[in-house]
Amino acid sequence: MITVADVKNDEEVKVIMAIAESQIEALGFTEHSVRHSSIVSKWAGDILSAIGAQPRRVELVQIAGYLHDIGNSVNREDHAQSGALLAYNILTRMGMEYEEAAEIMMAIGNHDEKQGLPVSDLTAALIIADKADVHKSRVRTNITRMSMGNLNIHDRVNLAAEKSFVQVDTETNEIVLNITIDTDLCPVMDYFEIYFKRMQLCRRAADFLDRKFVLIINNVRLL
Ligand SMILES: [Fe+2]
Ligand SMILES: [Fe+2]
Repeated sequence: MITVADVKNDEEVKVIMAIAESQIEALGFTEHSVRHSSIVSKWAGDILSAIGAQPRRVELVQIAGYLHDIGNSVNREDHAQSGALLAYNILTRMGMEYEEAAEIMMAIGNHDEKQGLPVSDLTAALIIADKADVHKSRVRTNITRMSMGNLNIHDRVNLAAEKSFVQVDTETNEIVLNITIDTDLCPVMDYFEIYFKRMQLCRRAADFLDRKFVLIINNVRLL
Protein backbone atom coordinates (compact mmCIF):
# COMPACT_ATOMS: atom_id res chain seq x y z
CA MET A 1 0.00 0.00 0.00
CA ILE A 2 1.20 3.48 -0.87
CA THR A 3 2.21 5.48 2.21
CA VAL A 4 2.67 9.20 2.79
CA ALA A 5 6.44 8.58 2.93
CA ASP A 6 6.32 7.01 -0.56
CA VAL A 7 4.49 10.08 -1.85
CA LYS A 8 6.97 12.51 -0.27
CA ASN A 9 9.88 10.63 -1.88
CA ASP A 10 8.37 10.42 -5.34
CA GLU A 11 10.37 12.32 -7.99
CA GLU A 12 7.29 13.48 -9.90
CA VAL A 13 5.73 14.83 -6.70
CA LYS A 14 8.93 16.73 -5.91
CA VAL A 15 9.05 18.33 -9.36
CA ILE A 16 5.37 19.29 -9.38
CA MET A 17 5.58 20.77 -5.88
CA ALA A 18 8.63 22.84 -6.80
CA ILE A 19 6.89 24.18 -9.91
CA ALA A 20 3.76 24.97 -7.89
CA GLU A 21 5.85 26.91 -5.41
CA SER A 22 7.64 28.87 -8.14
CA GLN A 23 4.30 29.93 -9.63
CA ILE A 24 2.89 30.98 -6.27
CA GLU A 25 6.05 32.92 -5.52
CA ALA A 26 5.91 34.67 -8.91
CA LEU A 27 2.31 35.69 -8.15
CA GLY A 28 3.35 37.07 -4.75
CA PHE A 29 1.06 34.84 -2.70
CA THR A 30 1.64 33.39 0.74
CA GLU A 31 3.79 30.27 0.58
CA HIS A 32 2.13 26.92 -0.15
CA SER A 33 5.25 24.85 -0.18
CA VAL A 34 6.52 21.78 1.59
CA ARG A 35 6.21 23.44 5.01
CA HIS A 36 2.47 24.16 4.53
CA SER A 37 1.81 20.79 2.90
CA SER A 38 3.56 18.88 5.67
CA ILE A 39 1.64 20.73 8.39
CA VAL A 40 -1.71 20.22 6.67
CA SER A 41 -0.84 16.54 6.18
CA LYS A 42 -0.03 16.10 9.86
CA TRP A 43 -2.99 18.07 11.22
CA ALA A 44 -5.50 16.38 8.91
CA GLY A 45 -4.19 13.01 10.09
CA ASP A 46 -4.34 14.10 13.74
CA ILE A 47 -7.98 15.19 13.34
CA LEU A 48 -9.11 11.87 11.86
CA SER A 49 -7.05 9.90 14.30
CA ALA A 50 -8.51 11.81 17.28
CA ILE A 51 -12.04 11.04 16.17
CA GLY A 52 -11.24 7.33 15.97
CA ALA A 53 -10.79 6.75 12.22
CA GLN A 54 -9.08 3.61 10.94
CA PRO A 55 -5.30 3.92 10.45
CA ARG A 56 -5.62 3.63 6.66
CA ARG A 57 -8.09 6.58 6.59
CA VAL A 58 -5.54 8.56 8.59
CA GLU A 59 -2.81 7.66 6.09
CA LEU A 60 -5.03 8.60 3.13
CA VAL A 61 -5.84 12.01 4.57
CA GLN A 62 -2.14 12.56 5.27
CA ILE A 63 -1.46 11.91 1.58
CA ALA A 64 -4.31 14.23 0.55
CA GLY A 65 -2.90 16.90 2.89
CA TYR A 66 0.56 16.62 1.44
CA LEU A 67 -0.68 16.91 -2.16
CA HIS A 68 -3.61 19.30 -1.68
CA ASP A 69 -2.04 22.40 -3.26
CA ILE A 70 -0.19 20.81 -6.21
CA GLY A 71 -2.75 22.31 -8.57
CA ASN A 72 -0.87 25.58 -8.10
CA SER A 73 1.57 24.08 -10.62
CA VAL A 74 -1.17 24.56 -13.25
CA ASN A 75 -2.85 27.81 -12.19
CA ARG A 76 -3.87 29.39 -8.88
CA GLU A 77 -7.42 29.63 -10.24
CA ASP A 78 -9.21 26.31 -9.78
CA HIS A 79 -6.07 24.81 -8.23
CA ALA A 80 -8.23 22.45 -6.16
CA GLN A 81 -9.68 20.79 -9.27
CA SER A 82 -6.47 20.65 -11.26
CA GLY A 83 -4.60 19.37 -8.21
CA ALA A 84 -7.21 16.68 -7.63
CA LEU A 85 -6.74 15.30 -11.15
CA LEU A 86 -2.96 15.52 -10.93
CA ALA A 87 -2.97 13.67 -7.61
CA TYR A 88 -5.21 10.92 -9.01
CA ASN A 89 -2.83 10.40 -11.95
CA ILE A 90 0.28 10.39 -9.79
CA LEU A 91 -1.17 8.06 -7.16
CA THR A 92 -2.53 5.51 -9.63
CA ARG A 93 0.80 5.63 -11.53
CA MET A 94 2.48 4.83 -8.20
CA GLY A 95 0.21 1.81 -7.87
CA MET A 96 -2.44 3.04 -5.44
CA GLU A 97 -5.83 1.33 -5.70
CA TYR A 98 -8.28 3.32 -7.84
CA GLU A 99 -10.76 3.67 -5.01
CA GLU A 100 -8.26 5.15 -2.59
CA ALA A 101 -6.84 7.48 -5.24
CA ALA A 102 -10.37 8.60 -6.12
CA GLU A 103 -11.14 9.42 -2.48
CA ILE A 104 -8.03 11.55 -2.30
CA MET A 105 -8.99 13.22 -5.58
CA MET A 106 -12.40 14.13 -4.17
CA ALA A 107 -10.91 15.53 -0.95
CA ILE A 108 -8.38 17.71 -2.79
CA GLY A 109 -11.04 18.87 -5.27
CA ASN A 110 -13.12 20.18 -2.37
CA HIS A 111 -10.51 21.83 -0.16
CA ASP A 112 -10.91 25.39 -1.45
CA GLU A 113 -13.60 27.63 0.03
CA LYS A 114 -14.65 28.90 -3.41
CA GLN A 115 -16.21 25.65 -4.58
CA GLY A 116 -15.41 23.15 -1.85
CA LEU A 117 -17.77 21.28 0.45
CA PRO A 118 -17.11 18.61 3.08
CA VAL A 119 -18.29 15.57 1.15
CA SER A 120 -16.34 12.88 3.04
CA ASP A 121 -14.38 12.42 6.25
CA LEU A 122 -11.13 12.93 4.33
CA THR A 123 -12.44 16.16 2.80
CA ALA A 124 -13.68 17.52 6.14
CA ALA A 125 -10.38 16.90 7.93
CA LEU A 126 -8.40 18.34 5.01
CA ILE A 127 -10.50 21.52 4.94
CA ILE A 128 -10.03 22.18 8.66
CA ALA A 129 -6.29 21.45 8.61
CA ASP A 130 -5.72 23.69 5.57
CA LYS A 131 -7.65 26.66 6.93
CA ALA A 132 -5.98 26.29 10.33
CA ASP A 133 -2.50 26.98 9.00
CA VAL A 134 -2.22 30.75 9.42
CA HIS A 135 1.25 31.69 10.50
CA LYS A 136 3.86 34.36 10.03
CA SER A 137 6.32 31.82 8.64
CA ARG A 138 4.04 31.63 5.59
CA VAL A 139 4.90 35.21 4.66
CA ARG A 140 7.89 35.53 2.38
CA THR A 141 11.08 36.43 4.18
CA ASN A 142 11.79 39.67 2.30
CA ILE A 143 8.76 41.22 3.96
CA THR A 144 9.60 43.00 7.19
CA ARG A 145 7.47 44.69 9.75
CA MET A 146 8.66 48.00 8.29
CA SER A 147 6.84 47.37 5.03
CA MET A 148 3.54 46.29 6.65
CA GLY A 149 1.65 49.23 5.13
CA ASN A 150 2.23 47.94 1.60
CA LEU A 151 1.18 44.38 2.32
CA ASN A 152 -1.95 42.72 1.11
CA ILE A 153 -4.43 41.63 3.76
CA HIS A 154 -3.40 37.94 3.51
CA ASP A 155 0.21 38.71 4.30
CA ARG A 156 -0.79 41.13 7.08
CA VAL A 157 -2.96 38.52 8.73
CA ASN A 158 -0.35 35.81 8.35
CA LEU A 159 2.43 38.04 9.63
CA ALA A 160 0.36 38.94 12.69
CA ALA A 161 -0.38 35.29 13.49
CA GLU A 162 2.05 34.28 16.21
CA LYS A 163 0.66 30.82 16.64
CA SER A 164 -2.14 28.67 15.30
CA PHE A 165 -3.04 25.10 16.02
CA VAL A 166 -6.00 22.81 15.82
CA GLN A 167 -7.05 20.32 18.47
CA VAL A 168 -9.82 17.82 18.87
CA ASP A 169 -11.32 17.87 22.35
CA THR A 170 -12.56 14.32 22.80
CA GLU A 171 -14.49 15.20 25.97
CA THR A 172 -16.54 18.07 24.55
CA ASN A 173 -16.59 16.74 20.96
CA GLU A 174 -15.23 20.04 19.73
CA ILE A 175 -12.65 20.76 17.05
CA VAL A 176 -10.86 23.84 18.31
CA LEU A 177 -8.85 26.24 16.16
CA ASN A 178 -6.69 28.32 18.44
CA ILE A 179 -4.98 31.40 17.01
CA THR A 180 -2.80 34.02 18.64
CA ILE A 181 -2.72 37.31 16.72
CA ASP A 182 -0.49 40.32 17.36
CA THR A 183 -3.19 43.01 17.30
CA ASP A 184 -0.57 45.75 16.88
CA LEU A 185 0.07 44.37 13.41
CA CYS A 186 -3.43 43.46 12.39
CA PRO A 187 -6.84 44.04 13.95
CA VAL A 188 -8.90 40.89 14.58
CA MET A 189 -11.41 42.34 12.08
CA ASP A 190 -8.88 41.90 9.25
CA TYR A 191 -8.65 38.27 10.16
CA PHE A 192 -12.40 37.95 9.94
CA GLU A 193 -12.55 39.78 6.66
CA ILE A 194 -10.50 37.14 4.89
CA TYR A 195 -11.38 34.18 7.04
CA PHE A 196 -15.13 34.45 7.41
CA LYS A 197 -15.89 32.18 4.46
CA ARG A 198 -13.18 29.77 5.50
CA MET A 199 -14.53 29.58 9.05
CA GLN A 200 -18.02 28.87 7.74
CA LEU A 201 -16.58 26.01 5.72
CA CYS A 202 -14.69 24.73 8.78
CA ARG A 203 -17.94 24.71 10.71
CA ARG A 204 -19.63 22.65 8.01
CA ALA A 205 -16.61 20.34 7.91
CA ALA A 206 -16.77 19.81 11.68
CA ASP A 207 -20.53 19.17 11.36
CA PHE A 208 -19.76 16.46 8.84
CA LEU A 209 -17.51 14.80 11.42
CA ASP A 210 -20.24 15.19 14.09
CA ARG A 211 -18.13 17.68 15.98
CA LYS A 212 -18.63 21.33 16.90
CA PHE A 213 -16.20 23.86 15.44
CA VAL A 214 -14.79 26.37 17.91
CA LEU A 215 -12.62 29.36 17.05
CA ILE A 216 -10.47 30.91 19.75
CA ILE A 217 -8.51 34.09 18.99
CA ASN A 218 -6.23 35.50 21.69
CA ASN A 219 -7.93 33.27 24.27
CA VAL A 220 -11.39 34.60 23.42
CA ARG A 221 -13.95 32.10 22.20
CA LEU A 222 -15.56 33.59 19.09
CA LEU A 223 -17.48 30.74 17.51
FE1 LIG B 1 -5.34 25.42 -1.63
FE1 LIG C 1 -3.41 24.95 1.37
